[in-house]
Amino acid sequence: MKNVLVTGGAGFIGSNFIRYLLDVEKNVQVFNLDALTYAGSLENLKDLPDPLRYTFIKGDITDQSFLDAVLRERQVDTIVHFAAESHVDRSILGPAQFMHTNIIGTFTLLEAARKYWLQENDFPRDQIRFHHISTDEVFGSLAPGEPAWTEETPYAPNSPYAASKASSDHLVRSYGHTYGLPYSLTNCSNNYGPYHFPEKLIPLIILSALDEKALPVYGDGQQIRDWLHVEDHCRAIHLVVTKGANGSSYNIGGENQPANLTIVETICDILDELKPRTNGNPYRELIQFVKDRPGHDRRYAMDSSRIQRELGWSPRHTLKDGLCDTVNWYLSHPEWVLAIRKQQDYQAWLTKNYDTREKTS
Ligand code: NAD
Ligand code: TYD
Repeated sequence: MKNVLVTGGAGFIGSNFIRYLLDVEKNVQVFNLDALTYAGSLENLKDLPDPLRYTFIKGDITDQSFLDAVLRERQVDTIVHFAAESHVDRSILGPAQFMHTNIIGTFTLLEAARKYWLQENDFPRDQIRFHHISTDEVFGSLAPGEPAWTEETPYAPNSPYAASKASSDHLVRSYGHTYGLPYSLTNCSNNYGPYHFPEKLIPLIILSALDEKALPVYGDGQQIRDWLHVEDHCRAIHLVVTKGANGSSYNIGGENQPANLTIVETICDILDELKPRTNGNPYRELIQFVKDRPGHDRRYAMDSSRIQRELGWSPRHTLKDGLCDTVNWYLSHPEWVLAIRKQQDYQAWLTKNYDTREKTS
């Protein structure tokens, strides 16, 4: 691994990964290719550990000639592909962009890799790797008591977002099978931690509480996600890219599975300690049940035993400490929070998704 192309590195997980990679790999050059959509921000990439080994390249993963040129000019040998539209609620209100970015974008990137690595050159297969970041949502939804998903669980995506990610996973696998493109794939559960864009549950609740706004809980709040701290995720990706078997996929979960309502209540309790409200009342009184998300998956749970067994990975963050650290991070980064709040698109999204949503309690 010498020249690593990270796509979507200005987003939440990608920016955490770049920070991690520069820290643990002292000899790699990192090229961050990102279109800077509403979800990407250069604010996420300030204070990198070794900025001289880092280059930002603004561009779109659906632009073939641009990708071809980047791979050639930068002599890319490793691709870690995060770039995507990533929010389920947005995929429900506007699925077309998800198909374009997640399916066509991944296809275009695969084509660029195939051309540069396998057609124009003949790189030794153990010196190149296409790593694709995917999600547990491709597996659908679990009933209470059903066992956690393994790498052998059949795909059953339910939302337009999940279906677009499932499609991209199939494309990656097919390039490995048909063309012999060296690849690996990770399907991870819901991440949380620093630089998380506040349209997703955990940062949305933290910032809404600080604003004294209602804390929206969809449906009965008993849906379950398998919360994974982003640092644990980045460590897992690095292990798979450097030591994971070619042509393999790995499930990554956080082993933290409380219901959404418990997550929201825990954040309220942490804020009561760290930043009490001026009126002295508990943040919990801001909780507002609202109309459910259509097709809302009930429960996700990942069986991470393969990555634990083969690569020795296991999560290091407990949810309690991880949530506390995350709340602290948002409290201690007011300039980052302000930059996001100023985004017109973000304010427009809050209006669109929440202002007219029916309240149910
Ligand atoms: P994000 O929405 O925070 O960031 C996505 C990044 O991709 C942004 O920087 C955006 O500018 C960039 N991007 C979007 N379209 C692009 C395009 N056409 N060309 C180039 N760049 C483009 O996403 P995230 O939460 O960091 O997720 C990263 C990856 O991990 C995604 O593939 C997502 O599906 C997957 N994933 C995320 C989670 C999670 O909990 N956040 C869980 C499982 C899997
Ligand atoms: P989210 O962070 O959007 O991630 P995903 O849909 O990919 O799991 O949502 C996490 C859970 O929180 C999910 O069950 C939906 C729920 N949720 C709410 O209850 N209220 C909200 O305002 C949001 C954004 C999510």
